[in-house]
Amino acid sequence: SMALETKKFGSRIIYEQSMTSTQAIAHNKAQEGAPEGTVIICEEQTAGRGRMMREWKSMKGKGIWMSVILRPEIAPYEAPQFTLVAAVALTKAIADMTGVQPEIKWPNDLLIDGKKCTGILTELQADPDRVNAIIMGIGINVNHQPNDFEGEIKDIATSLKIASGKHIDRATLVAKILYYLEIYSSQYIKEGFEPIKSQWESFSCTIGNRIRATTLQEVFIGKAIGITNDGVLQLQLDDGTIKGIYSADITLEK
Ligand code: BTN
Repeated sequence: SMALETKKFGSRIIYEQSMTSTQAIAHNKAQEGAPEGTVIICEEQTAGRGRMMREWKSMKGKGIWMSVILRPEIAPYEAPQFTLVAAVALTKAIADMTGVQPEIKWPNDLLIDGKKCTGILTELQADPDRVNAIIMGIGINVNHQPNDFEGEIKDIATSLKIASGKHIDRATLVAKILYYLEIYSSQYIKEGFEPIKSQWESFSCTIGNRIRATTLQEVFIGKAIGITNDGVLQLQLDDGTIKGIYSADITLEK
């Protein structure tokens, strides 16, 4: 059962059986002036989307498919930090509910047993110098059975149920997510990224490892040594130079 313990987040909830994409609806609502903390959530998405123009499979009744409208007073370049703030909030909520601690794969995947259970899609509505809204899209595979994953995600996806052996009440998990999102985003606004960054690094499976980062233009291989206060991944290349990675797909290298 759902009991919200938040001040703002979830004070407005738009819920429907089926939507094209909660992200698309949230963009419209934000444009129309929906307040901070408005949640768009559905049972099934017919056109769910992931990062880099990918499709996001959103099976009916199995997962959490939601978008949260945030209205922080930050500059556009700070927006990627919110992905990391959300990753920490989601990690805490999932660990509380399942007893299983996910790992964060930079920038926005949550993995359990090396497989993806959660994706985050942070999108911006902004003028050049001002953020109008952040649309925080969250997709969590919750009660999927192994057979529910087909095609290209078959071997790389997992669900909280598969990982923990327990059926997870989605409404309770949503309430926990909103609780932690509210706590960490207000901490971020008050204290900056530093305190959250150390939590992020402790949950991360990226930092300290040799990785391959595939950006739209190039491939870089090196050791992930940290993230900056702006959320930029720091990669130490084999010649010793440090390369800042803003957006990429990463995989572990042997
Ligand atoms: C990724 O890992 O590529 C991000 C996936 C984000 C999926 C969520 S589900 C709710 C929201 N609506 C969408 O269409 N996408 C996000």
